[in-house]
Amino acid sequence: MAEFDFDVLVIGSGPGGYVAAIRAAQLGLRTACAESRETLGGTCLNVGCIPSKALLHASELFEEAHNGTLAKFGVVTKGLSLDLGAMHGEKDVAVKGLTDGIAFLFKKNKIEWLKGHGKFTGPNTVAVGGKSVTAKNIIIATGSSVTPLPGVEIDQKVVVDSTGALALPKVPEHMVVIGGGVIGLELGSVWRRLGAKVTVVEFLDQILPGFDGEVRKESAKLFKKQGFDIKTSTKVTGVTVKGKKATVTVEPAAGGAAETIEADSVLVSIGRRPNTDGLGLDAIGLQANNRGQIEVGHDFQTSVKGVYAIGDVTPGPMLAHKAEDEGIAAAEFIAGMTGIVNHDVIPSVVYTHPEIAGVGLTEEQAKEKGAIKTGKFPMMANSRAKTIRDTDGFVKVIADAETDRVLGVWMVSSVAGTMIAQAAQAMEFGATSEDIAYTCHAHPTHSEAFKEAAMAVQGKPIHI
Ligand code: FAD
Ligand code: NAI
Repeated sequence: MAEFDFDVLVIGSGPGGYVAAIRAAQLGLRTACAESRETLGGTCLNVGCIPSKALLHASELFEEAHNGTLAKFGVVTKGLSLDLGAMHGEKDVAVKGLTDGIAFLFKKNKIEWLKGHGKFTGPNTVAVGGKSVTAKNIIIATGSSVTPLPGVEIDQKVVVDSTGALALPKVPEHMVVIGGGVIGLELGSVWRRLGAKVTVVEFLDQILPGFDGEVRKESAKLFKKQGFDIKTSTKVTGVTVKGKKATVTVEPAAGGAAETIEADSVLVSIGRRPNTDGLGLDAIGLQANNRGQIEVGHDFQTSVKGVYAIGDVTPGPMLAHKAEDEGIAAAEFIAGMTGIVNHDVIPSVVYTHPEIAGVGLTEEQAKEKGAIKTGKFPMMANSRAKTIRDTDGFVKVIADAETDRVLGVWMVSSVAGTMIAQAAQAMEFGATSEDIAYTCHAHPTHSEAFKEAAMAVQGKPIHI
């Protein structure tokens, strides 16, 4: 009889956990995955990436019909109205299709789905669903949850987190978004497009921390043009709810006179924190760092032998594709192979309109490391963007001044989320800006703006 019930037990079935489980099973390891949620897929599939993108798509269609963009192209709609129930319905279909899809993949790969909350009770032993399960290797993939704002109670009716904001039963008149990060801008965009006035309150002096400075400035300008009211360098000191209305008290981040904002919906989106509570880390002598994250080595193994951690519960960007790649790598290390994740080349995308994307170093970070050269190309000069009358934004390529190797690429453009993959691949292959400039790009495509930005690094763009 085998010494352990499983070769690999994954705790959590988000993009990190389910992908790790599938790769482990593909590599011939007896694999189980514990999940406390009713469905597989974690935050991303259930209440994150997937439902938010469904609503972003649907609300964009509504806005295009409503604000005359479709009519401008000769698509005339009459008697336009919003069926929010149907919109939520389509979102639910997308979520169900994808979460059921993971259950199918688990069956196909003979992965045992253990329903319930997993908790370490000793080395190689986890209690889940009233049973004690042993595994030679355990991967912690428990993800993250919303960071609460002290003194602000989330009731999921008037004061919501991202999960509540994905399911509002009616369009708010005035939504106050606390935190001008990715969630605030994506979900703020959804409700603004459907008719809400949206005020974003951001503690820092600019929105979108972590993004390239020029991209942050351009994005703020475009969001304001779309009707967002953005209050930077401002902090929320309290929210009081009376019936269906909220009063949000704000004051300058540096201190000063307070003012109040009335709203019928408040979205708290000030970041997410790793899930380690109730995981029984004490039982195996593992401690989270002072940011609540589980530290790992190059092989995703924690300080406890045989215990690995991946995804949002570990340091680094909280992104689904980072979690997935770490899941594959951790499983490969467990199987005795060398897993590979290049943490220097992880793209980041905000799925607003236009999309905002970047990979590698920001211009500010690159300058700190040494001499650089940059090339920038405005979408205004891109023929495809001009043809479809969607010319907001630019592409910027940052290269090492001496070697010309690309250090970072940043863009604001309607299809930036798709274009950024090309930049990531070029960087993964160690491309110079010249390599990109001499690569033939199809015409007319948005991607030509990437080629021209690379040509601009050489000082020789054609169309500007
Ligand atoms: P998670 O997806 O959080 O999964 C962890 C799972 O573990 C959960 O299902 C949880 O129930 C389970 N779990 C936790 N503890 C236990 C336990 N003790 N026992 C059993 N199960 C447990 N990222 C992108 O890259 N692109 C996007 O467009 C994007 N959009 C987002 C939109 C929103 C609104 C939100 C909130 C997030 C979004 N993200 C996006 C971030 C993305 O969802 C996360 O980075 C990703 O889900 C992390 O994957 P994970 O596997 O580490 O954890
Ligand atoms: P975030 O870290 O992106 O943004 C939080 C914002 O809140 C920051 O700008 C911060 O300065 C501000 N803030 C913090 N405390 C504040 C306070 N008290 N008052 C006012 N502002 C305050 O976090 P967010 O938007 O909650 O997203 C969480 C995670 O989910 C992110 O790490 C992101 O990577 C991930 N995500 C990714 C998406 C994507 O890839 N498209 C979409 C949505 C989420």
